[in-house]
Amino acid sequence: MIKSGKNIDYASRMLKDDGIVVIPTETVYGLGGNAININSINKIYSLKKRPKNDPLICHTDSLDKILKHVNKIPETAYKLAEKFWPGPMTIIFEKKNIIPNLTTSNLNTVAFRIPKKKITLELFKSLNFPVAAPSANIFGYISPTSIEHVHKNFSNGIDYILDGGNCKLGIESTILGLKKNKILIYRLGSLILNDIKKIGDIELFNNEENYPGSFKTHYSPRKKLYIGDIKSLCKSYQHKKIGILCFDKKYEYVDKKKQIVLSDKSCLNEASRNLYSSLYKLDSMKNIEIIISSLLPNDFIGTTINDRLKKSAE
Ligand code: TXA
Ligand code: MG
Repeated sequence: MIKSGKNIDYASRMLKDDGIVVIPTETVYGLGGNAININSINKIYSLKKRPKNDPLICHTDSLDKILKHVNKIPETAYKLAEKFWPGPMTIIFEKKNIIPNLTTSNLNTVAFRIPKKKITLELFKSLNFPVAAPSANIFGYISPTSIEHVHKNFSNGIDYILDGGNCKLGIESTILGLKKNKILIYRLGSLILNDIKKIGDIELFNNEENYPGSFKTHYSPRKKLYIGDIKSLCKSYQHKKIGILCFDKKYEYVDKKKQIVLSDKSCLNEASRNLYSSLYKLDSMKNIEIIISSLLPNDFIGTTINDRLKKSAE
């Protein structure tokens, strides 16, 4: 069993010693290692079984530390940082050579984020290097929002899990870049577009083929997930053992024990927090062969939830 606890000093020592530490954040748990150490980065890629052309996000606790690793922080980035950091936002910058090409899959840019999680920020304060951390799941599988999920993905190779309880937001950060006077959205996430628009004009990046890490399988349970009208899907797959991921109420077509409600108050934020943990539950239920779900109201965080549901179902 991988060692876990709330010992910041121990986590810090492990990271300084090229070790791998799972870190809690407000979005999902990350598989962390020293972002400027090749040995640590190689361990992350191989543990996660992640292709080397999918770059990692670097995490730290201050703009000063980011400035040591990037060429410049544009004006708009300062505005975004002031409003949304610490928080579920990742910004792409031009990188300095101190960041190894291995960390960024040979791109001349690097992604940075300051997460909003007290215990993790304290850990970062003790380090003089950024922590590279992809979500702490095997490549392509569901992102972890609790240490129980981390244990489902890994049984060894990790030096310590810093326990921060359940992740408050439950979906990854929003990734953005700065293009002339536009904010380019690379990945939808927990920071919603309505909020980003208050800082500047946004544009959705839609050149998926040229985007690093845009792979077909993502956030996917092992069981096949179908998205659409629940009643007709239940009819089409009636010969299968069906589980339902419901928004705010259960349905009459399937045994109620095989259904999970994301938010009985129809609250999109609650649904977002529960999305991945509900997928983990349905995926490990023995008496279910397929999972059926439908898209949620496509507003606010609902847009991000729908993005993940569609990708999980691909
Ligand atoms: O909330 C999150 O962002 C979580 C927590 C742990 O912070 N991390 C996370 O990392 O979701 P990961 O590795 O699962 O997703 C990182 C994605 C990559 O797949 C890639 O698409 C994008 O970030 N990325 C990283 N560096 C990039 C760069 N230089 N340019 C464009 N995209 C980049
Ligand atoms: Mg991931």
